[in-house]
Amino acid sequence: MGVLAGKTALVTGGSRGIGRAVAVRLAAEGALVAVHYGGNDAAARETVARIEEAGGQAFAVQARFGEKDAVDRLFEGLTGGLAGRGLDILVNNAGIGSSNPISQVTPEEFDRLLTVNVTVPFFVIQRALPLLNDGGRIVNMGSTASRFAVSMQIGYTISKAAIEAMAPTLANDLGRRGITVNTVAPGAVRTDMTAGYTSIPEAVATLESITALGRLGEPEDVADVVTFLASPQARWITGQTVDVSGGTYLGPLG
Ligand SMILES: NC(=O)c1ccc[n+]([C@@H]2O[C@H](COP(=O)([O-])OP(=O)(O)OC[C@H]3O[C@@H](n4cnc5c(N)ncnc54)[C@H](OP(=O)(O)O)[C@@H]3O)[C@@H](O)[C@H]2O)c1
Repeated sequence: MGVLAGKTALVTGGSRGIGRAVAVRLAAEGALVAVHYGGNDAAARETVARIEEAGGQAFAVQARFGEKDAVDRLFEGLTGGLAGRGLDILVNNAGIGSSNPISQVTPEEFDRLLTVNVTVPFFVIQRALPLLNDGGRIVNMGSTASRFAVSMQIGYTISKAAIEAMAPTLANDLGRRGITVNTVAPGAVRTDMTAGYTSIPEAVATLESITALGRLGEPEDVADVVTFLASPQARWITGQTVDVSGGTYLGPLG
């Protein structure tokens, strides 16, 4: 019996990359998982199929963040799939990247980053509050981008700093219900989002050279930490940011 047997979970952006690994891992521990996605039906179906083939339970929910009524749509699908059960675990993982320095960021790009990475997750939490069971868990996906300067990612960095800023206040607000709220901050992880540079050997070598553990992250490296934070064993951790980067950019190596 897994540590999450009898629990329910929503993983936004659970169809690919880090979110998929989180969904698979939570389901392996016994949770019924709502696999949210934006538009790639095939990827969502594959994630649900993987979970079911391994003996777990999951259902897919589509809602394109940034479109009008996306949060309504998400919660219609979620409550339908939960069939009257509450929600125990909310993983706010869906997000988009950016690759422009300040001189080139357009207002439209900046607005979209904040909408998908900050505004929608914020209102997803707000809408989840009445559905969340006491003793529940909220895990938001931050990034090491909020810790150090990367010129090409300034818009993304700001959005990740903003989502990280939610946890302490929400932890105070929800703590009396036994609900914990934490941020997980991965470093570079091999996913579709990072394929642009993780496919370049020189870029990978540079990242490895500033990482204590000497390699890039894999989605499962992050999923294990999210699953721990979602588990009863993490009941005394709240309002925190957990760096999950293999020790990226800690200081001079060697
Ligand atoms: N990869 C990294 O190195 C890294 C590092 C630090 C933090 N992170 C954070 O980790 C999270 C996941 O990243 P990832 O690398 O796994 O990304 P990914 O492989 O690009 O997957 C993104 C997921 O989010 C969904 N999504 C994207 N835009 C959406 C939208 N507008 N509306 C609804 N869903 C949307 C996608 O669904 P569809 O395919 O259906 O659109 C997909 O399930 C993000 O918050 C990211 O910022 C990633």
